[in-house]
Amino acid sequence: MREQGGMLAGKVMMITGASSGIGAAAARVGAQQGAALVLMARRTQRLGLLAEELRDKGAEVSCVQGDVTDAGDVVRAVDSAVRRYGGLHAAFNNAGVVTEPALLHETDEAQFDTVLDVNFRGVWLCMKHQIKAMIASGVGGAIVNNSSVAGLRATSAGPSYVAAKHAVLGLTKSAAAQYAGHGIRVNALATGLTRSEMSEGVFARDPGAEERMRRRNPQARVAEPEEVAQAAAWLCSDLASFVTGATLAVDGGAGAW
Ligand SMILES: NC(=O)c1ccc[n+]([C@@H]2O[C@H](COP(=O)([O-])OP(=O)(O)OC[C@H]3O[C@@H](n4cnc5c(N)ncnc54)[C@H](O)[C@@H]3O)[C@@H](O)[C@H]2O)c1
Repeated sequence: MREQGGMLAGKVMMITGASSGIGAAAARVGAQQGAALVLMARRTQRLGLLAEELRDKGAEVSCVQGDVTDAGDVVRAVDSAVRRYGGLHAAFNNAGVVTEPALLHETDEAQFDTVLDVNFRGVWLCMKHQIKAMIASGVGGAIVNNSSVAGLRATSAGPSYVAAKHAVLGLTKSAAAQYAGHGIRVNALATGLTRSEMSEGVFARDPGAEERMRRRNPQARVAEPEEVAQAAAWLCSDLASFVTGATLAVDGGAGAW
């Protein structure tokens, strides 16, 4: 399964939210493309099963149980890349959460805090420690943040999620400008509707949502998580050497319509 000389060969890649959906797909693609992986997630059992699957196919994988809103957990994940593999070259900051959308004036503070904490502050925390490690290594690196179509316009996911995903694009652009001189590229995905626990949860709460969303999409379908993961892997690789500060739409054309 591991491609000799894959586009991530020789790279150490950290992936957050790796136990399911797009994160788990990114781990599979990263392994196929030759990266050594540091997988971070809260659900150890699921993460362990994924790691076992990848190791059986020849991949180098280490797992860190952790929450992206906890600085200690994030530091442990980054340190584990440095101690075990000698550095961190790539990161896919993918962990995210969506809550039942509410009107802004009816959103309670705890819900707002959760959505901002995971989707925005968590990405910032990961970037902070990943960038420190990348600067220390002296060889730079590449970071990809998983934003959303909701990072570019309002969607039915509600104002807290839309604001958090917009903020991720701001962080991405600002960090791209600040760290280009260190050889660190920072990009984001404007991910469209993708099959995962998150989207299944949305469809379960609102059975008409899938059909409505399909109708708004030129490809009239939901993406498979691997299709998003492939874009993240490319942005993490040296093939994307002149791409930084960019937001890559992986949305079946939804943003163009
Ligand atoms: N599925 C879609 O349609 C869609 C569309 C646009 C953007 N996205 C984004 O893609 C990313 C991945 O989502 P997905 O669709 O694969 O759904 P998912 O629910 O399968 O994956 C999200 C992962 O993040 C993890 N996570 C949540 N909070 C965490 C925390 N505090 N610390 C560590 N991990 C945490 C979850 O446990 C889960 O494994 C998210 O950032 C999401 O906002 C998804």
